[in-house]
Amino acid sequence: SDINLQDVCGFLVNVAKSAGDVITAARPSTTAAGEKINSVDLVTETDQTTERLITELVHQKYPHFEFMGEETYKPGDTLTDKPTLICDPVDGTTNFIHGYPYISISLGLAIDRKPVVGVIYNPFTKTLFSGVKGQGSFFSDPFHDHVKLPLKDPESLALDKALVAVEWGSDRAGHDYDIKVKTFRNLCASPEQGGAMVHGIRSFGSAALNLCGVAAGHLDAYWEAGCWAWDVCAGWVILEEAGGHIVDANKGNWQPRVDGRRYLAVRKGEGQNAFIEQLWTHVAGDLKVG
Ligand code: IPD
Repeated sequence: SDINLQDVCGFLVNVAKSAGDVITAARPSTTAAGEKINSVDLVTETDQTTERLITELVHQKYPHFEFMGEETYKPGDTLTDKPTLICDPVDGTTNFIHGYPYISISLGLAIDRKPVVGVIYNPFTKTLFSGVKGQGSFFSDPFHDHVKLPLKDPESLALDKALVAVEWGSDRAGHDYDIKVKTFRNLCASPEQGGAMVHGIRSFGSAALNLCGVAAGHLDAYWEAGCWAWDVCAGWVILEEAGGHIVDANKGNWQPRVDGRRYLAVRKGEGQNAFIEQLWTHVAGDLKVG
């Protein structure tokens, strides 16, 4: 294709920063938040305004891009092979509403349904992650400028030394919910209890930033069922360009789809495949979502 991916990346960084100004100026509250699927699947006016701003800016510059965004998505919408900007205006809406400054704008470009550009920006901490397929991924904040990921020297991977991100998500009932809870239990429990006894599990509340954490190397893995394309598209590029790997959260499935909903992400490091196999042995059944 004749799209210059580096140019797209640079442009998306500016878009993310403009969107960030809208988000940091907003004063959200739990009472003003609207609900989508249930009382914990939240949306604010800021999510909607920010998505509109992003769409406008991208359409002006790249009129031929298709668009898929969290706030305008309708059930049945599908991802095509065309260049598609996949956007989450506020990833971490629950954090945003509560004033917990761990959120991001996640902007990804997929071509042929494969993520090729990713920009993830937390406007509260001014933390920026970006990646272009085949050209590496990078981190900037007020103290660092364009540092190549991962940020740490990757030690070999070991489950009993791992810090693992998991998320509860907004689906709080049904078959998959029990599998999630049992899987969290298996990761934490001592070997006598049949568990992996990882160093810890964390639920920070932003899928995109979790993927960045794995790319940076301060998280060893991230496991979730219930994501959407806009939660993962950008982070996928950033992670893979940092030597990390993304597979399906279900045992033995090595090929997730960007429009699928189950993901296991693992950082760069020796023993990656063995670590994935080992992590899967603690997954407490087959997840149905996705
Ligand atoms: C959600 C967050 C959350 C994750 C969900 C996502 P949103 O995105 O990333 O951590 O558990 O799967 O949908 O709704 O805040 O944009």
